[in-house]
Amino acid sequence: MNAVEIKNLSKSFGSKQAVRGLDMTVPMGAIYGFIGENGSGKSTTEKMICGLIPKSSGSIRLYGKDNTDANVRAKLGVLIESPGCFPELSVWDNMMLQAENLSLPDAKKQVISILKTVRMEGAASNKYKNCSLGMKQRVGIAMALLGNPYLLVLDEPLNGLDADGMRIMREVFTDIVKDGNRSIIVSSHLLGELQKVATHYGIIRHGRMIREMTAQELDASCRTYTALQAKDMSRAKLLLNSKYSRVEVDEAGYIRVYDPVPPEAVVTYLYENGVIVTEIMTEKIGLEEYYIDLMKGGN
Ligand SMILES: Nc1ncnc2c1ncn2[C@@H]1O[C@H](COP(=O)(O)OP(=O)(O)OP(=O)(O)O)[C@@H](O)[C@H]1O
Ligand SMILES: [Mg+2]
Repeated sequence: MNAVEIKNLSKSFGSKQAVRGLDMTVPMGAIYGFIGENGSGKSTTEKMICGLIPKSSGSIRLYGKDNTDANVRAKLGVLIESPGCFPELSVWDNMMLQAENLSLPDAKKQVISILKTVRMEGAASNKYKNCSLGMKQRVGIAMALLGNPYLLVLDEPLNGLDADGMRIMREVFTDIVKDGNRSIIVSSHLLGELQKVATHYGIIRHGRMIREMTAQELDASCRTYTALQAKDMSRAKLLLNSKYSRVEVDEAGYIRVYDPVPPEAVVTYLYENGVIVTEIMTEKIGLEEYYIDLMKGGN
């Protein structure tokens, strides 16, 4: 059984079609990275999954049941936009209040355990308004975890986090899905960060799913390239451009040769033409470049 199965989902706002016949499959235990440019329909899809807005057509099944099923709805945790916290109350009081709203029988025990999961056990007495952005995001996830949901839907939870905040968030995600029963859908534009934690990806464009794949599939389909530094960079670039079909200079100033050639052939070719290579390595393109390539393909 899959955590989420969406078929032919559409949503219109008046004459504007935000989601157009979207299909999506999120397996159980997945951290599903949901990717797409601004306005492609990620938040709209997430809101429909959670029943926050009605769909125009199509079907959304969560754990084998329609997403309008009350039992399934109760097992959904959502963080879309900011968590509805009271700024003057402590993290603990905010959590307990929400636990009471949900009539959770073992509120105290659950809040303690969830605060641990989101690495906030030492900051429970902080007023919400005094929490850092990273802490606020984690409180939002903590709120979403109340009631022990099977599925968490998080809309851009990585925005604005520093390196340490990102690392903690990755640990939190991994912890949440570790027993294999819970799944997370996480939308983000931070592809490098997403790639460090996602097990599955869905790429949406103009309201349609254009690719779904596992992290392993991404890895297998990502081409390798040769990156190098040479004594005479401009001559190296000229020479490589005249021989290979795709040569680019990356942000770090390395010349990249994307053609499938062994690195030693590149070194030999440059050497025979009077250019000394000072550094060379082969690397794989990451999610970010894969995504840019896919978008360039005009799908
Ligand atoms: N309530 C609404 N009324 C009218 N149009 C809307 C509404 N909500 C979203 N849209 C439109 O639907 C399209 C998809 O928006 P959505 O917010 O789902 O995109 P997104 O992928 O989440 O973008 P971003 O990366 O910027 O968050 C956009 O063109 C947006 O303007
Ligand atoms: Mg959005």
